[in-house]
Amino acid sequence: MTAPARTLFVTTALPYANGPFHIGHIMEYIQADIWVRFQRMRGHTVHFVGADDAHGAPIMIAAEKEGLSPQDFVARIAAGRKAYLDGFHLSFDHWHSTDSPENTELSQSIYRSLKAHGLIDVRRVEQFFDPVKGMFLPDRYIKGECPSCGARDQYGDACEVCGSVYLPTQLKHPYSALSGAQPELRASDHYFFRLSDPRCQAFLREWTAGTDRHGELRLQPEVLAKAQEWLGGGEEGGSLADWDISRDAPYFGIEIPDVPDKYFYVWLDAPIGYLASLKAHCAKRGIDFGALLADPTTEQVHFIGKDIIYFHVLFWPATLKFGGHKTPDRVNVHGFITVSGEKMSKSRGTGISPLRYLEIGMNPEWLRYYIAAKLNARVEDVDFNPDDFVARVNSDLIGKYVNIASRAANFVNRYFDGRLAVLAGDPADPLTMRVAGLEAAVAAAYEGREFGRAIRLIMAYADEVNQYFDARKPWELAKDPARRDALHEVCSRCLLAFHRMTILLAPILPATAARVEAFFGTPGLRWEDLGVRAGTASPAQRIGRYEHLMTRVDPKSFDALFESPTATVEPATGAAAPVPEGAVAASPAGASDAPAAVSIDEFERLDLRIARIVAAETVAGSDRLLRLELDLGEARTRNVFSGIRAAYDPAGLVGRMTVVVANLAPRRMKFGVSEGMVLSASADDPAQPAALFLLDVDAGAQPGMKVQ
Ligand code: 2FM
Ligand code: ZN
Repeated sequence: MTAPARTLFVTTALPYANGPFHIGHIMEYIQADIWVRFQRMRGHTVHFVGADDAHGAPIMIAAEKEGLSPQDFVARIAAGRKAYLDGFHLSFDHWHSTDSPENTELSQSIYRSLKAHGLIDVRRVEQFFDPVKGMFLPDRYIKGECPSCGARDQYGDACEVCGSVYLPTQLKHPYSALSGAQPELRASDHYFFRLSDPRCQAFLREWTAGTDRHGELRLQPEVLAKAQEWLGGGEEGGSLADWDISRDAPYFGIEIPDVPDKYFYVWLDAPIGYLASLKAHCAKRGIDFGALLADPTTEQVHFIGKDIIYFHVLFWPATLKFGGHKTPDRVNVHGFITVSGEKMSKSRGTGISPLRYLEIGMNPEWLRYYIAAKLNARVEDVDFNPDDFVARVNSDLIGKYVNIASRAANFVNRYFDGRLAVLAGDPADPLTMRVAGLEAAVAAAYEGREFGRAIRLIMAYADEVNQYFDARKPWELAKDPARRDALHEVCSRCLLAFHRMTILLAPILPATAARVEAFFGTPGLRWEDLGVRAGTASPAQRIGRYEHLMTRVDPKSFDALFESPTATVEPATGAAAPVPEGAVAASPAGASDAPAAVSIDEFERLDLRIARIVAAETVAGSDRLLRLELDLGEARTRNVFSGIRAAYDPAGLVGRMTVVVANLAPRRMKFGVSEGMVLSASADDPAQPAALFLLDVDAGAQPGMKVQ
């Protein structure tokens, strides 16, 4: 390494421990992981940590609903994390929890320091209190009539019907979403972090506009602009309000020292969880946490999404500064992920499940590559588009990159026993000559999180290598024993170029890189193995047997990715076998794997309705699906995709009545949104795909009637 070695402390936003990871989490982790792997390959030391964000009222309430302690609830979520982290090759050094002794100690000590700086105030605050639950209600748990338009059942902060924004106390006929009780206004003491203090304002003005130790702005220009807007323009006219950092018991959080029954608001201790995770990681590795964090050369870098900028560029640096710690060097913000141009919505069920992606056997590196190809350093949304995904993976990764190895390896193994030609550092070789410039440009792109640019540069090189191969026609050289040297040279140069491309792609494709390392017998590749410095040769000298490095994406995989895995009630333990959408798996009487019993309440959560099929058609690109238009007695018909194509001719279905699950969350599929599920019986036997039977309805039933 010519550049001095760096020490980096890198984090991703801590996910709430109230559910599994969604694709947005995985996108952020992939972005950070690529950057981290690049830094490690350059010889830098990286401490890359994450944690679950465990505290807060929503998690406490969700746990209570399930009859669990919040600790057990969070532990159950945490137990599911590994499958995702390993599955997508995310190289966190440690994964922790904000509900931990390290976080308690750090949060309390930071609070004491804020207090010692005179930055904590106590004020009386009036809030809604639920007399039945015996607790103050967060805004989202208060509902009532919108003060502007009168719409019923609106949340305590904004109306979903007319869009107006208000205080919970302005709602008409407010009620607690937890108990239904009418809330009472009660006063209690709240602890405030005095961000309006001139010291905080001055510090934040300087910090937000500052540069990191490499002279780069620590915030992206659009993030800096936002921060400046929040901070208010003038030197004097600070507009930051003080921040309420306390919550009254009962609350799942960290106790405020010396103040009985008061806890830190979750957003105070959540980012401190970054430090807590680093501390636990240091303890595991025998590293001096205090020294590492205090060292001014340790670079602290956070990756976050655009929804939590405010917390990370205002609250968090001020908390660190006046809490007695070093402040972040950079905050890298990314946009959201959309699916085919539309916002994903968990509640509408239109997300992509990352676990399902893995379970159906899709290659995690396809997703890493695709996301990398779409990422740049700006705060832009990334669109996941199935057709684009297939095109990029199949034409770039397989058609260009892997293709080089599979073509050239064949000749080298067949005629030269796997040995690469000894090639003097020859200026005539266009492929080698390009590497120095390419390496510098790709490194700059990785460093600046312009991963899409890095990929474009590498793929342009792949094009050149393929053209070089084609122009020299090794298949013709091979026919002429007198031209063996030329054949050896051409194929060796292509394999060396492939080896170098693998180094350049390794931050994105770590598993493929490991297979390529084994193929060349060059384990532990680092950036300097590109051999661009004078006098360094490539470590690649020979190859082993060529095994296929990566398969193509089958576009049909998306049918499975976007569809509901099963319509059956899952047994209490173990996963139910996937059955086609809409099919209810037959369970022979007395079978030991019969689904667990459900209560009548659970059953009643299903809204089963009579529907008339008003139109039915096949779906281009799917062997399994029919698109049905259903009349459920509503103002408009519904669109439902059903996996019954093998069993039914669409024309014969029109006019028929059947039974539909009407309150199934809408699901975005490759072909459109499915707004319900048609019930059918099946033999659950993949060998008999046509053994599917729609339910019949006796004469007289009308569309929309409830089935109970
Ligand atoms: O928005 C969220 O999902 C938060 N759990 C992020 C916290 S990031 C950090 F502050 F812990
Ligand atoms: Zn309204």
